[in-house]
Amino acid sequence: MAKKVKTLFFCQSCGYESAKWQGKCPSCNAWNSFVEEVVQKENKKEWQESTGSSGKTNSPQPISKITIREEHRIPISDGELKRVLGGGIMPGSVVLIGGEPGIGKSTLMLQIALSLQNLQVLYVSGEESAQQIKMRAERLPFDSEQCFILTETGTQNIFQQVKQLKPEILVIDSIQTLTSSYVDSAAGSISQIKECTSELIRFAKETNTPVFLIGHITKDGNLAGPKILEHMVDTVLQFEGDRHTSYRILRTTKNRFGSTSELGIYEMLGHGLREVSNPSEILLSQREDELNGIAVGATLEGNRPLLIEIQSLVSPSVYGNPQRTCTGFDIKRLNMLLAVLEKRGGYKVNFTDVFLNITGGLKVEDPAIDLAVCASIISSLQDVAISNDICLTGEVGLGGEIRAVNRIENRIMEAEKLGFKVIYISKFNLKGLNQDKFKIKIHGVSKLDQVFSSLSL
Ligand code: TYD
Ligand code: MG
Repeated sequence: MAKKVKTLFFCQSCGYESAKWQGKCPSCNAWNSFVEEVVQKENKKEWQESTGSSGKTNSPQPISKITIREEHRIPISDGELKRVLGGGIMPGSVVLIGGEPGIGKSTLMLQIALSLQNLQVLYVSGEESAQQIKMRAERLPFDSEQCFILTETGTQNIFQQVKQLKPEILVIDSIQTLTSSYVDSAAGSISQIKECTSELIRFAKETNTPVFLIGHITKDGNLAGPKILEHMVDTVLQFEGDRHTSYRILRTTKNRFGSTSELGIYEMLGHGLREVSNPSEILLSQREDELNGIAVGATLEGNRPLLIEIQSLVSPSVYGNPQRTCTGFDIKRLNMLLAVLEKRGGYKVNFTDVFLNITGGLKVEDPAIDLAVCASIISSLQDVAISNDICLTGEVGLGGEIRAVNRIENRIMEAEKLGFKVIYISKFNLKGLNQDKFKIKIHGVSKLDQVFSSLSL
């Protein structure tokens, strides 16, 4: 008897299932997001046989009786990925890497696969032929005997190969190209992505093999597929960067085994990705003369201190409504700082256009950048340059006071390392700080006016 074709409607933004088409998703309130997909309910027994899943159930146990297995992370030589993952690859973890086409996801994963010299890695590609991958590998500085390439898109076939090869790490390029025979819809559809991911997650958890999934992103920068894809995996990494510059940033947006505030920086060269271990050097532009509107702030990205350059342009507004534009900084925070400068500092910034740019394409959320943002705005307003051996760090409160920031020693050390002569910090950060061990001159300040008069702004 012919199988009855079963179709369901899926919300493309959150993965909500419905038997009927609906104009508005009841789960995420997105409009016109339902798409019909053909599904076939999976045959559980058949699935278990094909993947060798035991299907056994667990019983509850007291938390005091649970013993912690010392999980040994798999060490990797790539320092940037290692830090982003929280100190190595966790056995049995599933990591999703998203990024725009051509940004270098395949290059990064192939490079990692080749650099893991004594581990067997299976790189499954549904996008490129084995020859294409080989050509790419030729350009990379690593070579490994233990890296296997499989060009396949059916999950059942992949699992069969995996059963024979027993790789220690599995890489899937990309999750949108996979198809499972238990679901009838096309590759890349919500139900296929959901099914293939859950099969891979089951595989990872049962065999304790780490799995890396490469994922496409949509026009608006989200990972293509349902949002639940991100809930299902252990770690979500975003590989971003401007296609016109060679720097790439690897950012964690979710990590069950580490901090999400870590950041890895790479440079795309002709022979693969180079780790950038001292990012401050590239974030500070090489300028010969001092320009007004530029200030350097010391921030932290995760555990890593970064010195970044802030550029402002302040000019009288031609229209009634002054324009405020930020790149890499929160516009609401900029408006707040402008109000503080107007009200507490007496600077006339209400009727000026303000453009603010954090160089290097970074997005900074650390409030310690406030002081440098204020200094750069006032420097542009007054047409007075700030000397390029000065850096600033401190949060600005609504009263114009400079508040203390965390991990001040790391910030000062980074500034000193990069050759800055003077750093402005909050007076409250001076408590318990051993100033003698730094060569850099430390100015403790409590009010914005003190900073501006000391900088002769
Ligand atoms: P790729 O890894 O194919 O991107 P994705 O998988 O994210 O789509 O990125 C390829 C780009 O990187 C391509 O434009 C060529 C460039 N590239 C280099 O600049 N140097 C290299 O060594 C390699 C392998 C690629
Ligand atoms: Mg690719």
